[in-house]
Amino acid sequence: MSGIRPTGFLHLGNYFGAIRNYVKMQEEFECYFMVADLHSLTTHPDTKELKGNVHRVLAENIACGLDPDKAAFYCQSHIYETSELYLYLNMLAYKGELEKTTTFKDKVRQSPDNVNAGLLTYPVLQTADIILHRASLVPVGKDQEQHLEMARNFVKRFNHRYGDVFPEPMAFNYSQELVKVPSLDGSGKMSKSENQMATLYLADDDEMIRKKVMKAKTDAGPTEPNSEKPEYISNLFLLMKLVSSQEVIEKYEADFNTCNIRYGDMKKQLAEDMVAFIAPIREKVDGILADDAYLRQVMEKGAEKARASASETMKLVREAIGLNYF
Ligand code: TRP
Repeated sequence: MSGIRPTGFLHLGNYFGAIRNYVKMQEEFECYFMVADLHSLTTHPDTKELKGNVHRVLAENIACGLDPDKAAFYCQSHIYETSELYLYLNMLAYKGELEKTTTFKDKVRQSPDNVNAGLLTYPVLQTADIILHRASLVPVGKDQEQHLEMARNFVKRFNHRYGDVFPEPMAFNYSQELVKVPSLDGSGKMSKSENQMATLYLADDDEMIRKKVMKAKTDAGPTEPNSEKPEYISNLFLLMKLVSSQEVIEKYEADFNTCNIRYGDMKKQLAEDMVAFIAPIREKVDGILADDAYLRQVMEKGAEKARASASETMKLVREAIGLNYF
């Protein structure tokens, strides 16, 4: 089980970091992937752009290979059981531990005039999302580890007080080393919040992709054979490894090691390979976004699968808590 915030416009880092994991997991496990639209209300009470963002995140994930026929792919707000479980879990979550959460403290700092209770209990809602399906594996990045630890604490408390209903959820990734997609400005990773020109979005058009890649920092090239690569150069090679053929990579590695490399050519090649990688995804996204009937069908089918699993869990939960009076 995992949740995806509907903040729109996925980039290459999201693709290689998260979505590829989902696409692999859906072949092996019973998967629930959810658009976390309720979570977005904690920080974005204005919902003007919500529908568009939800549609985009659905379309982008599907275009990248997430298959609504294999996994349950649904919207959080369509599953009312989530809100019920969230309420019960709130009785097991202490104000003190919620106030200590890193993401809460960050958000308080960012918007001190909107410190609402939903923000405080964000990790409780996230726990409800996960354990609603009694899920045990949660594909998330490092930034979510504290939330998962809290989820395990809430689960332990629930199980201890009311009986064993839930497994303890664990963060899951196929490779120990998460794939880091370096940014085009020489250091750090591609990220939504930092330099937009250094991040390749799945929605970027061909010209924009070329422009961004050609702007990447290089230098006059190595002067000694087999030198060590500076970070901004090794990053270009890392990007190449994601989208270029083995032959191309070997050619430029050899050119570098023999001091014959022409970075202009290398970037042109990388730009074309990026275009070849991103353009078909972008076109698929546009096709899906234009098809409201299909999107609706995806959401309905996802909600149906999620509700089936949720209602089974909630029967067990109500029984365990003692909310069964007849
Ligand atoms: N908090 C997650 C994020 O910011 C999104 C999320 C919501 C989530 N519910 C979840 C992730 C359940 C994993 C499981 O990215």
